[in-house]
Amino acid sequence: MRFAVLSAALLAAVAVAKVHAQPPRDLPHITSERLEQAMRASFGYDQLPPDLQARLVQDEVQRLCTEYRNEPPADVAERIQKLSAESVVFPPDGKFLGDWKKGEQLSVNGYGLRMRDDPRRQVGGNCYACHQMAPQEVSYGTLGPSLLQYGKLRDFDPEAIRTAYIKIYNSNAALACSTMPRYGTQKIISIEDITHILAFLFDRDSPVNKE
Ligand code: HEC
Repeated sequence: MRFAVLSAALLAAVAVAKVHAQPPRDLPHITSERLEQAMRASFGYDQLPPDLQARLVQDEVQRLCTEYRNEPPADVAERIQKLSAESVVFPPDGKFLGDWKKGEQLSVNGYGLRMRDDPRRQVGGNCYACHQMAPQEVSYGTLGPSLLQYGKLRDFDPEAIRTAYIKIYNSNAALACSTMPRYGTQKIISIEDITHILAFLFDRDSPVNKE
């Protein structure tokens, strides 16, 4: 008897999982317009000041990624990557590597991007939310690959530094509809802050590159 109840519960759970596994594009009643309405309602859009309202308006890349549920066909993916690459601004003095100690703090710091944040406070990169970086830090997310020994594994190669800069500045330039924030393009952190974080990944003295 107990077994029957258990297996019925299991079957029900599997059925629910199957429903959730269906991609939203198979549900024709959920249109982009409806998603937009739901999002605006949940943020109280009409009461927000204009600068916060602007944050709820999708740019073209976000719109395309929403439209294709983050799985764009090859030609659209190419367009997204091109648009994203065009938005990348390189450090004006040509120096990619800043101060790794500042980069370490920025990588741990998760402050920012909330509607009621204090604009005077330093916004962080929050990289540990998705990446392993220095071996001493044991609390990290695994949505992104481990960045342990990142510079060392790439022989501190200038080309790899440039590639990582672009990835951090606009992650969609490397992979269309990447889930990694577009730190430079969306002005989450400054170009200088990106160079500090880059130094945390590529400086020979950074704990990221030590055993
Ligand atoms: C919300 C999760 C998330 C956050 C936060 C995040 N990343 Fe990522 N990152 C990813 C994912 C996922 C990938 C793998 C490729 C992709 O999907 O874009 C990635 C890839 C990378 C890569 C390329 C790795 C390779 O294979 O060579 C680098 C470098 C990187 N991230 C650096 C950073 C840095 C530095 C920060 C903080 C400023 C950061 N990431 C914050 C999710 C994230």
